[in-house]
Amino acid sequence: MASLKQIRSTFLDYFAADGHEKVHSAPLVPQNDPTLLFVNAGMVPFKDYFTGAATPPYPRATSSQKCVRAGGKHNDLDNVGYTARHLTFFEMLGNFSFGDYFKEHAIESAWNLVTKDFGLDAKRLLVTVYIDDDEAAAIWKKVTGFGDDKIIRIAGSDNFWAMGDSGPCGPCTEIFWDYGDHVPGGPPGSPDEDGDRYVEIWNNVFMQFEKENDEIVRSLPKPSVDTGMGLERMTSVLQGKNSVFDTDLFQTLIAASEDATSTKSDEERAPSHRVIADHLRSSSFLIADGVTPSNEGRGYVLRRIMRRAMRHAHLLGATDPLMHRLVPTLVSEMGEAYPELKRAQPFIEDTLKQEEIRFRTTLSKGMNLFETAVQGFRPGDMVDGQTAFTLYDTYGFPLDLTQDEARRRGYGVNVDGFQDAMAQQRARSREHWKGSGQQANAGEWLKVRDRLGQTVFTGYDNTDGSGEVLTIMKDGQPADVAATGDIVEVLFDTTPFYAESGGQAGDHGTLEWPGGSAEVIDVKKQAGDLHVLSAEIISGELTTGARVAQSVDAAKRVTTRANHSAAHLLHTALKNVLGAHVAQKGQMVDAERARFDFSHNAPVTEAELESIEAEVNAVIRQNTPVETKLMAPEAAIEAGAIALFGEKYGDEVRVLTIGQSLVSDNAPYSVELCGGTHVARTGDIALFKVVQETGIAAGVRRIEALTGEAARLYVEGQAKIARNLARDFKVQPADVTGRVEGLHTSVKALEKQVAELKKQLALGGGSGGNAAPEEINGVKLIARVLDGVDGKGLRGVAEDFRKSVGTGVVALIGVTDGKAAVTVAVTADLAGKVNAADLARAAVLAMGGQGAGGKPDFAQGGAPDGSKAEDGLAAVRAALG
Ligand code: ALA
Repeated sequence: MASLKQIRSTFLDYFAADGHEKVHSAPLVPQNDPTLLFVNAGMVPFKDYFTGAATPPYPRATSSQKCVRAGGKHNDLDNVGYTARHLTFFEMLGNFSFGDYFKEHAIESAWNLVTKDFGLDAKRLLVTVYIDDDEAAAIWKKVTGFGDDKIIRIAGSDNFWAMGDSGPCGPCTEIFWDYGDHVPGGPPGSPDEDGDRYVEIWNNVFMQFEKENDEIVRSLPKPSVDTGMGLERMTSVLQGKNSVFDTDLFQTLIAASEDATSTKSDEERAPSHRVIADHLRSSSFLIADGVTPSNEGRGYVLRRIMRRAMRHAHLLGATDPLMHRLVPTLVSEMGEAYPELKRAQPFIEDTLKQEEIRFRTTLSKGMNLFETAVQGFRPGDMVDGQTAFTLYDTYGFPLDLTQDEARRRGYGVNVDGFQDAMAQQRARSREHWKGSGQQANAGEWLKVRDRLGQTVFTGYDNTDGSGEVLTIMKDGQPADVAATGDIVEVLFDTTPFYAESGGQAGDHGTLEWPGGSAEVIDVKKQAGDLHVLSAEIISGELTTGARVAQSVDAAKRVTTRANHSAAHLLHTALKNVLGAHVAQKGQMVDAERARFDFSHNAPVTEAELESIEAEVNAVIRQNTPVETKLMAPEAAIEAGAIALFGEKYGDEVRVLTIGQSLVSDNAPYSVELCGGTHVARTGDIALFKVVQETGIAAGVRRIEALTGEAARLYVEGQAKIARNLARDFKVQPADVTGRVEGLHTSVKALEKQVAELKKQLALGGGSGGNAAPEEINGVKLIARVLDGVDGKGLRGVAEDFRKSVGTGVVALIGVTDGKAAVTVAVTADLAGKVNAADLARAAVLAMGGQGAGGKPDFAQGGAPDGSKAEDGLAAVRAALG
């Protein structure tokens, strides 16, 4: 029996032998399409080749592409666990022709692979074609010998495939496997086609059109072929299983989940084990590609998937976080085909664990609320929208989790009610939604890139250079000339200007040509690799074809370089000091500073920061040359280079090696893939100083650091503060801390002393009042105004008076900062006769306050106007009288 791994390689080898370039799966986050949530089909990375926006480097390709269908146009999340073949993550094996072969070769190749190499029985296969695709039908007839009954014509979207509302599309032809009449379901096009008997195993799309906003707007330049074979489905057919969850890979994952939860995947629990196995794959692959759980966009889809799995872990009775314990099994099954999974393993485990810990704090409470809401429910009843919203908003239950729980018990959820309650949050999250950041005129630059090809960047070695203006864009449209005052985008044949990328800011500088000059205010990459300068024309006119002297602001470049190299050293130091789970989450280096974001679940302690700084500075002092090598990405990663999760690298990558390991001989300190500009020797960084460490999101920390002269100025600024303090305190700078601590202790002692003295003064009857109590209606009263004593201080004084008076009432009003604090205490023998709270209230009201609180024997209150303190005491006397 062929394993899933073997089926994958049989497919790829088959098409490689037929002249197809084997292309590694692109990351799940689309790199070239802001409209798409996740890569959801094998053709997505090749989209620009189909539309003609970019020229394919090979006429045929084959790949095994990671796909996620959870959110957006193609969304299978709700079905997973309850059907035999829906998955949120799957591998799509594909062969692609970019204007090379078309229908005939595509159909023949598919048929030969399926029936010969995979050996499927032709009698149990049938095919569909688009309703009017006579050509495809005729080819199938010739290739298979099938009659019309086994070449089913289908109208509508089932046999017209589109990537999304925008993008390439075309009619398709599909191959179906018949599991046999013991399985319920009908052939495609029949009323019960949704049953599990006939399963689509292969889709062949004849790409011919392009859609925009769900309408066909043009024909593609060359008819092309896009195919998709769901690896998991094909594996279930070849392994004679009805369900993808019964295939070898899933059985291994389910066994791990059974083991970890000490439960069997029996009839009742099978859906939970399946959900866990599927969601483990989608979550882990998404995290490996740089997505982290959050409350918006892609991060929220990931969170929904993770939490849905976590609820099923809870259903299985798992008391500790489960998902992260299954990652090693997944990595051993799939890490070979997808090395990015292996590389990200510690990060995946940490992310899953933290999210599960976080969600567990509200999961049980949320489930209780759910139980209460469905009490007395009968099948078909609906959970109300408000409950679903509270579960979402307060307990972190994504809607589909609530729906999943409801569905498990035969109930529904009032989604409209939920949506109403949600409307505001949705609007906010939509506001924050960002695509993959392409600009409005990206299409124009793609055309330019296609027409002119690559341009040359000379800035690794130089900051000056001359270049010819190839293109000027004004307001996003090509222009031949730019006039004084215009801000335009300019593309040169060669340029020393670095374009913002990899977290390094674009260069600034100047342009000069006979009769004119311009200031470069930013540089961005367009169409993948074009360095496009944004420039303001200061004088003269700039025209295409002009030869221009370009100079990068060299001083800025020097500090940017130092900051960038320091960020690499910081990355390694963080991993060494905090642990392997540290992964880069973002970076911004410019001439001012290095800012580095990374995954870590606690603030970095002072001691850790000191070790990190010490390591980085030790490597700086090695003063070894920084090495740059150009390598194939796989070779670089093999050699231990840190690649960023989710980054797409070209055919050749720059590998930066900085410093010597501090612990082993002959090993480098930092090796990273990086296209940025760097120092020549580590000593050029001179000094590294962290100036801030903060949290920017759950599990993500940010460090800001300075290098070179900026770091020296910062350290000098700190030293100056210490020197000034030393002068003020008349000690050596090293003794300032001791001195401040000493002062602090003596201030505390003095404060205590002052409070005690105030109390003594009050008890001795110093400030305005008789030493002996007065008597009203036979009740002894000590009534005092105490200047400078606050409510807290009054309490002690009142207690002392109460003891000394034996029987009676103590009414004290303390005045601090112009405000009055009232305290009234009554001895126990007067209980039932005199109420302290009433007296305190009378005093407070007399001084313009609101009221007082306390017990019958002790009450306190406050009033805004301390100058009326005597009125307050008068009110007490009156109340007793
Ligand atoms: N792009 C086609 C699909 O996803 C092959 O089914």
